[in-house]
Amino acid sequence: MPNLAQLLTTKSSAEYRRVFDLCRAISGEFDDIDAVYVVGGVVRDLILERAPNDIDISVVGNARGFSEALASGLGVNSPVESQFLTFKINAVDLKLGGSSIDVVTARSETYSEPAALPEIAVSSISDDLKRRDFTINAMALSLSNSNWGNLVDPANGFGDVMRKRIKVLHAGSFVDDPTRIFRAVRYATRLGFSIDSRTSWLMSESLAYVDRLSGTRIRNEFEQLLGESKRTDMLRMSEEMGLIGAMSPGLRIGSKALQVLDSQEELGTLSTDLTDLLAIATFGLNEDEATRVIERFDAPAEWGESITGNTRLAKHVALLDRPNILPSELVEILDQIPLASIRAHIAVGPPLPRRDKLNDYMERIRFIKPDLTGIDLIKAGIPEGPIIGKLICIVKRAKLDGHVRSRQEELELALNRLPGFLTN
Ligand code: CTP
Repeated sequence: MPNLAQLLTTKSSAEYRRVFDLCRAISGEFDDIDAVYVVGGVVRDLILERAPNDIDISVVGNARGFSEALASGLGVNSPVESQFLTFKINAVDLKLGGSSIDVVTARSETYSEPAALPEIAVSSISDDLKRRDFTINAMALSLSNSNWGNLVDPANGFGDVMRKRIKVLHAGSFVDDPTRIFRAVRYATRLGFSIDSRTSWLMSESLAYVDRLSGTRIRNEFEQLLGESKRTDMLRMSEEMGLIGAMSPGLRIGSKALQVLDSQEELGTLSTDLTDLLAIATFGLNEDEATRVIERFDAPAEWGESITGNTRLAKHVALLDRPNILPSELVEILDQIPLASIRAHIAVGPPLPRRDKLNDYMERIRFIKPDLTGIDLIKAGIPEGPIIGKLICIVKRAKLDGHVRSRQEELELALNRLPGFLTN
């Protein structure tokens, strides 16, 4: 069993070292703790000398007591039991790469049917490693005092890190948990690793099981992918292997959208706001496809808005090519559309006159407001109520189209139009 204590002591940052040292001290204090390990992504990232994210700790024994002692030693709030015998320590204030420390009781997992959530039983570290997705994530480094730094690596993940290879532990891995197909894409692209040929075959054979994942789980995976810095390569790979279509039959990411993401990424102008990324990624879907995607993803309002915003804009956007369209007409159309969809159309849509109009709306026209306010109108003797809003709208349209040029002209227009409202 190789000893990688050096990774814990010299290759990790001071903040991670503090956590590891505390684990070492605490593990000796409890009679009902047999062993403590740091597992999964942190071990992989330490070997690769990459900055790790969240810390995953596996405890053989009393994980609850351990997590409470760790939180108290770190001076942060008590852990919260997030799932069965899993304790989450909020690490946002600790300057680690990730936002939490997850302490789990070493366990085995079995899946009653494809894509179901696993059934869990308390077990050994070797079972805990066997339940994992890829060999590179199935390593544990001991944090116990007696064997500090010993590597437990039953699937030779170390060798696969060296070979830069993503490989599953067993043939049923993607059927058990189809989210692992997304994970393989993420790791391969993020780390620049290749996917072992059998693993790659198993991924395509298991695509049909993606359909069994709940909307929330699928959305979570897609969101994680969009949050990665190499998102465009990940989306391209997912599209090419059929993973995007497997999420929802209506969903596809067009080559123009991928090109735009690529070039904006290169220029450093890509907005990483989720609504913007979604609007670009789903550009070109028709109304029916957009509706199906939203349903499939069980999408919250902000997702739905970005996706349907594109299709709503597509319905009216040809009007923007008319040379005599008035600014007020432009505002009437575009004020109903989410800004993310307008930005996506500018970037991905055709370079017709509409693009100049959309740009003008984004940069100038949408900020135009009358100088006159509702309060001014009340002061001028107009009774409070819906009339005020209607008059302000008329004044705004007139200002947009250049029919009034001062606050005085705005007031005159409002007073001129007042009788029409009073008689109605
Ligand atoms: N894991 C798994 N199957 C999943 C999700 C997670 O086997 N569907 C295991 C892997 O061993 C993984 C660990 O749980 O390493 C922690 O999960 P997560 O935090 O998502 O993975 P990391 O590898 O730590 O990811 P990242 O570097 O993206 O934070």
